[in-house]
Amino acid sequence: MRIIQISDTHLSPSKPHFADNWPPLARWIARQHPDLVIHTGDVTVDGAGVEEDLRHTAELMRGLGVHFRALPGNHDVGDAGNDRQPVNDERLRRWRTHFGPDRWVEDVEDFRLIGFDALLLGSGEPEEAVQADWLEAVMDDAGHRRIAWFLHRPLFLDSPDEGDTGYWSVKPEPRTRLMELVRRHSVALVASGHLHNAHDFFHDGTRYIWAPASAFLVGPDMKAPPLPGENRLGAVLYEMDGRTLEAGIVDVPGLSPHWIDDAVEEVYPRRSDK
Ligand SMILES: [Fe+2]
Ligand SMILES: [Fe+2]
Repeated sequence: MRIIQISDTHLSPSKPHFADNWPPLARWIARQHPDLVIHTGDVTVDGAGVEEDLRHTAELMRGLGVHFRALPGNHDVGDAGNDRQPVNDERLRRWRTHFGPDRWVEDVEDFRLIGFDALLLGSGEPEEAVQADWLEAVMDDAGHRRIAWFLHRPLFLDSPDEGDTGYWSVKPEPRTRLMELVRRHSVALVASGHLHNAHDFFHDGTRYIWAPASAFLVGPDMKAPPLPGENRLGAVLYEMDGRTLEAGIVDVPGLSPHWIDDAVEEVYPRRSDK
């Protein structure tokens, strides 16, 4: 079973700054003949504000002709506690209209892949509690299967015990609950996006993979804390066979190394984060 994880495509028909990276990514995906493609969010430039971004990118994803699952990023559904674009029922409804559920389960080989919505974490929205109950239930129900998580925002940057990293990782309170689940169920893999920085490491027996973006790189001036890993574009290739998992961060030929620093005033003019 071959699975491809892509992330942070940041596509929009009205802001086509990174659109030239979609065709090479789509061609590369087709050549890999994956059984499943997982997009870990920031699919759009501004799906949280412009529904057309969601409609357009969902069409592109369907055009791959491959079974896919997508998870929202902060630019797709807003963010917990964001005063301009808070995640809320209306934004979630728009996401679900175009991309389907923002949490899902796929059983492949001897693995249970669980995707969930990182933007609800710490939001206090009613959906946050519903998702938390659902997550516990689908994990309890996994039986003998090994568990792999997919979400937009990484659980932590350097250590599960670190404090609040702001924009960059899951807040300490929801993180503590999630880490308890990771330990209790010996989660095999936690795969995320969001950082536009590639990294592959183990912590307490769990493998953590930060997928590279395919849209743009982030210069050191805009990358808040110094991050481990590599500043590169690309994708992640997974092979699952029985209980065996192989994974690797890979280059995608033909991607243009855009830097958000050069385009931020046009693409995200009202704030300087990505
Ligand atoms: Fe992003
Ligand atoms: Fe993001």
